[in-house]
Amino acid sequence: MDNVLPHEVPDGPPAGLPDPALLASLANAFFSALPGNAPDTSATLGLAGTQPFTAPVTSEVGNPAPAGSPLAGPGGTGTGIPGAALPQGHVPGGNLLPSAPTHVLSLGHRAPALVPHAAAQNGLPDNVVTVAPALDPRFGGAALGVPEGQGAQRPDGGGAPATQSASPYYFLGDATHSRETSAVSPEIVVPGWQEVTAQSLGLPAVDGPLVEQRFPYDRPAASPAAAQPASPSHYFLDVQDRSRTPGQSLDGAQNVPQAASAAHPPFDVNAIRRDFPILQERVNGRRLVWFDNAATTHKPQAVIDRLAYFYAHENSNIHRAAHALAGRATDAYEAARSKVQRFIGAASPEEIIFVRGTTEAINLIAKTWGVQNVGEGDEIIVSHLEHHANIVPWQQLAAQTGAKLRVIPVDDSGQVLLDEYRRLLNDRTKIVSVTQVSNALGTVVPVREIVELAHRAGAKALVDGAQSVSHMRVDVQALDADFFVFSGHKVFGPTGIGVVYGKRTILEDMPPWQGGGNMIADVTFERTVFQPPPNRFEAGTGNIADAVGLGAAIDYVQRIGIENIARYEHDLLAYATSVLQPVPGVRLIGTARDKASVLSFVLKGYETEEVGKALNEEGIAVRSGHHCAQPILRRFGVEATVRPSLAFYNTCDEVDALVSVVRRLSSRR
Ligand code: ALA
Repeated sequence: MDNVLPHEVPDGPPAGLPDPALLASLANAFFSALPGNAPDTSATLGLAGTQPFTAPVTSEVGNPAPAGSPLAGPGGTGTGIPGAALPQGHVPGGNLLPSAPTHVLSLGHRAPALVPHAAAQNGLPDNVVTVAPALDPRFGGAALGVPEGQGAQRPDGGGAPATQSASPYYFLGDATHSRETSAVSPEIVVPGWQEVTAQSLGLPAVDGPLVEQRFPYDRPAASPAAAQPASPSHYFLDVQDRSRTPGQSLDGAQNVPQAASAAHPPFDVNAIRRDFPILQERVNGRRLVWFDNAATTHKPQAVIDRLAYFYAHENSNIHRAAHALAGRATDAYEAARSKVQRFIGAASPEEIIFVRGTTEAINLIAKTWGVQNVGEGDEIIVSHLEHHANIVPWQQLAAQTGAKLRVIPVDDSGQVLLDEYRRLLNDRTKIVSVTQVSNALGTVVPVREIVELAHRAGAKALVDGAQSVSHMRVDVQALDADFFVFSGHKVFGPTGIGVVYGKRTILEDMPPWQGGGNMIADVTFERTVFQPPPNRFEAGTGNIADAVGLGAAIDYVQRIGIENIARYEHDLLAYATSVLQPVPGVRLIGTARDKASVLSFVLKGYETEEVGKALNEEGIAVRSGHHCAQPILRRFGVEATVRPSLAFYNTCDEVDALVSVVRRLSSRR
C-alpha cells in the first residue's frame, strides 16, 4: 500500500475484507428500504454478492423546479440540488438546503475560469508580460487551490485533461503531492502569501513597535503629498502624442481647446494599464476591452496586494481586543476612513460611515434621518436622472410617512431643468437627493447649485456620488452637501464597501439604523447607550478588509491625480462621441454638454442585447439594458440602451474597436 496514492482504489479487496461491490449493494438495499423510498428489488436480488454497484445512494428532494427553469441545478444560481427550486419569497431556513454532490462538481468545473492565463501564453508582447504584476504567478491556480488539470479554457488549448482527479494537495502523507509538485507547471513558481509583503511591493520595510507595523500606505501623512509613497512621474509622458486624442467638445464640435493640453502632460495610459491585471485577460480570443466601468471598475494590483497583505498580516476583528492583530486591523481600517475623509474633503473622519455601497448608504439615510425628519405632507425631491437606488428608498419613505416624491425634469439633452427645480422647492421640501453624474446618460448635474437652492428652501441635500468620484474632484465641503454617498467598487476598490458622508452635526442627531455590537457604549436590559458617529451606524463586524482595500484604491487614484484622470477621460469621451455619433442608425441617449464617462446609445434595427452580444464576441464588455434607471430611459422613449462607459485605463484604440463593430452592424440593416 505504500506506493498507492491516497485517492487511488486498489484492484481488489485486501484479504479478509468483504468485496466493496457487495458492501455497496447491501447499502443500496438498506437505503432503498427506508420510508419514502421505493424498494429496490434489483439491489435486494444482488445480495448473492455478484450484483455490481450501479447507482449512488441519494436522498429524494422535494419541490423540484420545472424542467428548463433557470433555478434548476446543477450549480449556477440554483440550490445546488438538481431539480430543487430555490425557495421563493420568505421561506424560513430556505437557505439551509444542503448542497448536492453535483453542485460541488459544477463549481469544480467553473473554478478554472479563475485561473489567470500563464505568462507568455496569452499572445502579449513579453515586455508587457514582464512588467505586468497581473501575470505574477503568485495568483496562479495552485495558489487559488484550483488544480491546473481541471481543464481551464485557455485560448491556447493548453492544460491537462479535464478528467484529472481532484488534487490531494490538502492531505498529508505523500511527498508526490506536496505543494511544490502539485499540478503547477514547472516553469511557474508559486510563492506563498507570506511573500506578499510591504517590501515585495517595493515599499519601505515595516518593522518595530506595533504602531509602526501598519501597511506603509496607512501611515498618517503629515500632508496629503506625504501620503503618496510612489512617485507618479512614470505615469506621465515626456513626449506628447496627442494625435489620438483630438480636442473636441462632447457634442462633436472640432477644434475646441484640448483638456490634455493644460499645464500637465497627458499620462501614459499604457503604464496605467499595466497596473490592472484583468486588462490582460482575453475574451473570445481578443484582449478584453472593459467599457462597463459605470457598473464596476477594475482593481489595480496595489488594491489586490493590499487585500492580500491585510489577510496575511493584519486580519482581525477591530476595536475589541487587546492583541497585536486587532491593533493592526483597527489601524488599517481607521486609516482607510481618514483616506476617504481626505479624498472627498470631509472635515473629520467621524463624518465617514462605512456601508456596503451606495444603495445601502441611501437606505441608511432614508431610514434614519428620513424617518426622523420627514412626515405627512412633506416633500422629497429627486431628479428624473436617478438610479433606482435613489428613487426606491425615498418612495418607501413617502409611503411610510405620507410624504410626496417630486421629480426635477430634464431637457432633451438629459440635463436637469434648474428653473423647474426652483419651482418645486417650497417650505415642505425636507430633502433633495440627486446624482452628481447620471449612470445611464453620463450627464454631470450642477449639484453645487442644487444644494444651495435646497438650503435656501430650508431642505437638506444628498448627493449621490456613485458615478462621480472616479471621474472628478469631489469636495463635500465646497459642495456644502449634507450627505454624500458612493461605492468603493466604482472607484477601483473592492465590492461590498461604500461610504456615507454626513455633516457631523446632522449625524450626531440621527438615530442608529441597525443595533448590535460595535455601535454601543453601554448595554443593560433596561436601556442602551449608543456610540457617537460613525460607530453608531456601523453595527456588527463590518467589511474591514475591503475598507482597507478602498483606502488603497484611493491612494492609487491620488497617485495618478484625479484632475489628470478627469482631463484624460474628457478627451477620450469627446473622441468616442465624435466617432460613434456619425455611424448611421446610432442615436445617442444623453447629449448634455457636461458629461462624464458614459456613451448611451441605441442602434436602428437592433435590440440592445444584440449589440451587446456582437461586442462581446470581440471581447468588448458593455452593459445593455435599463441600467437600473428606467424612468430616465423612458423619458427618452426607450426601455434599454447600449452603454459603453469609460475609465482612465481605456484607450482610443479600444474606442475604435467598439465603433468598428457598431459600424459593421449598422451596414447590415
Ligand atoms: N449602477 C450600476 C450601473 O449603472 C450597476 O450599471
